[in-house]
Amino acid sequence: MVVILLGPPGVGKGTQAVRLADSEGWAHVSTGDLLRSALREGTTLGEQARGFMNAGELVPDALIMDLVREHLAALGPEVGILFDGFPRTTAQAGGLDAVLAESGRKVDTVVLFEASDDELVKRLSGRRSCPECGAVYNVFFTPPENEGKCDRCGAALQHREDDAPGTVERRLQVYQEQTAPLVAYYQAHPAGVVRVPAEQSVDAVHGEFRAAVGVG
Ligand code: AP5
Repeated sequence: MVVILLGPPGVGKGTQAVRLADSEGWAHVSTGDLLRSALREGTTLGEQARGFMNAGELVPDALIMDLVREHLAALGPEVGILFDGFPRTTAQAGGLDAVLAESGRKVDTVVLFEASDDELVKRLSGRRSCPECGAVYNVFFTPPENEGKCDRCGAALQHREDDAPGTVERRLQVYQEQTAPLVAYYQAHPAGVVRVPAEQSVDAVHGEFRAAVGVG
């Protein structure tokens, strides 16, 4: 099963992908997480991506396709995959179809999460992430038990640099300009698009997400 989670910044793609990946034993492939790891490790890719990410712009397609290709090569052919934050342009979507076809696979389902800009801005301003284990919290909706500390591993939580208000505004524009056209792309694709209203509780969204993917 190959699933794409599509939707604007802060809509809850990562939150939902982690939960489904945990329950089904599927791989969670987040290009944002892979890029942030590269930044932390100081790799060449991380240095190439840093300026784009901090400005809220997309990292060039060629860099992203190399990253995804390398990551997919390390996954077994049978493992279910949840793509989170990828593809983000029609060039990446075409690239993904080609890469999957090389191993006889295809995109099975595209789930579009939707919420208002006001909700997205609030979620991103309140997001806190654990740099060690990747757990995600929200000071408004899902705070950690001890302020500023990860419940799972105790590390100090961070506010992502690209969650600063000016950068969030740019990320939302970039989504509309470069990623929203993927809805039409996938509506014309054999996978189709299933819409999930994401402005409800994490549990309620998760129920609709599972139904959309067909895992009950
Ligand atoms: P990336 O890391 O992919 O960021 P994004 O797509 O902007 O998405 P986010 O991680 O901000 O949000 P999310 O939808 O995962 O929401 P989350 O679950 O965290 O990309 C970052 C940057 O990397 C890009 O700007 C770009 O530069 C680069 N990049 C990455 N991929 C790329 C690609 N393919 N091509 C080019 N460049 C690329 O939830 C958000 C908050 O809301 C959290 O606090 C969470 O706790 C809370 N929350 C979640 N669900 C709910 C709910 N139902 N109710 C209340 N709160 C909720």
